[in-house]
Amino acid sequence: MESVTSAYAGKVVLVTGAAGAIGSNLCRRLAQEGAHVLALDDLSTSKRWNVPNLTNVLFLEGDILDETQLNQVFLERPEIVFHLAGFFANQNSIEHPEKDLMVNGMGTLRVLILCERFGVERLVYPSSSAAYNGNLLLPYREQDGPIALTSPYQITKILGEQYCNFFASYHGLKVVKARIFNSYGPGEIPGKYRNVISNFIFLALKGAPLPITGTGDETRDFTYVLDIVQGLLAMGILEPLVGLSVNLGSGRETAIRALAEIINVEIGNKAGVCYVPRRRWDSQLRRQASTTRAEELIPSMPRTLLQDGLAETIGWFREHWDQIQADASF
Ligand SMILES: NC(=O)c1ccc[n+]([C@@H]2O[C@H](COP(=O)([O-])OP(=O)(O)OC[C@H]3O[C@@H](n4cnc5c(N)ncnc54)[C@H](O)[C@@H]3O)[C@@H](O)[C@H]2O)c1
Repeated sequence: MESVTSAYAGKVVLVTGAAGAIGSNLCRRLAQEGAHVLALDDLSTSKRWNVPNLTNVLFLEGDILDETQLNQVFLERPEIVFHLAGFFANQNSIEHPEKDLMVNGMGTLRVLILCERFGVERLVYPSSSAAYNGNLLLPYREQDGPIALTSPYQITKILGEQYCNFFASYHGLKVVKARIFNSYGPGEIPGKYRNVISNFIFLALKGAPLPITGTGDETRDFTYVLDIVQGLLAMGILEPLVGLSVNLGSGRETAIRALAEIINVEIGNKAGVCYVPRRRWDSQLRRQASTTRAEELIPSMPRTLLQDGLAETIGWFREHWDQIQADASF
């Protein structure tokens, strides 16, 4: 991986969504590799303190939907763009479908237009495991298609992928699409719309029961954020990845009940779990990434064990507990 990461030295790299859970970690790694990082975020759902305070990370507070602001950012001539700004996630999009379409749909389109106009070398787009909601068995039967998307967020993440495909095929833009499976790790501030691990750790540290939506047998592929960052770094540089979608997942399934138990034991939370009804859009009972393509194409692609990633995440929570308590939005 050394040759990949050293390729960033001296490069001007734009990260949209830089204050977010994944973007903040990506900015830190890029800066460590010697990139000049343009860190753009409107702070609509994140906090300034989450952006690494490093000399080669230039924080720019701005909205990707504001054409003047976005144009100014591109005048800084980014060579590589990681477009991580997004309206997150399913439940939020159910409650705010128009905002979801604007940020994930129009926002992505505007970023793509400027990437093409300014001759950006590479765009990395974070798609979602929702891309696999369809039945992929052959032969295709009418009742199996089209892909069964169950929330506006899933629709707009796949819309973004389709716009990326169009800009690649029609304009020749070099695009790589990361299909990210349930990210977790340091940098994710808990909240009503955030991922289950961040919220479980927060509640466990407060001594509250962990709410399981459904039976607890549902599985997800939880992927440590620094593994995702390593995959994204490769996507920004490696030539064989251009034009591809690549899963960034651990390749392991974990049931939600098992996850809750691990977190309660690690933290010493005696309040256990409680059960609440499954959310109506949440129809996927199991998720697991194939890691074959990532392992073939990305040298030394890490696959951090859940226990190890959770320990790091809990450590981050303890270190930033006062700020997290102040900023957790439920
Ligand atoms: N976290 C996951 O499990 C996961 C899985 C699949 C895909 N993704 C995608 O990866 C990307 C990053 O995910 P994340 O977990 O870091 O999300 P996040 O919500 O933590 O970060 C997104 C950031 O975008 C910013 N933002 C929102 N609207 C903006 C706008 N109009 N202009 C500028 N900034 C804006 C927010 O303030 C936030 O800091 C998102 O696009 C998300 O859809 C994430």
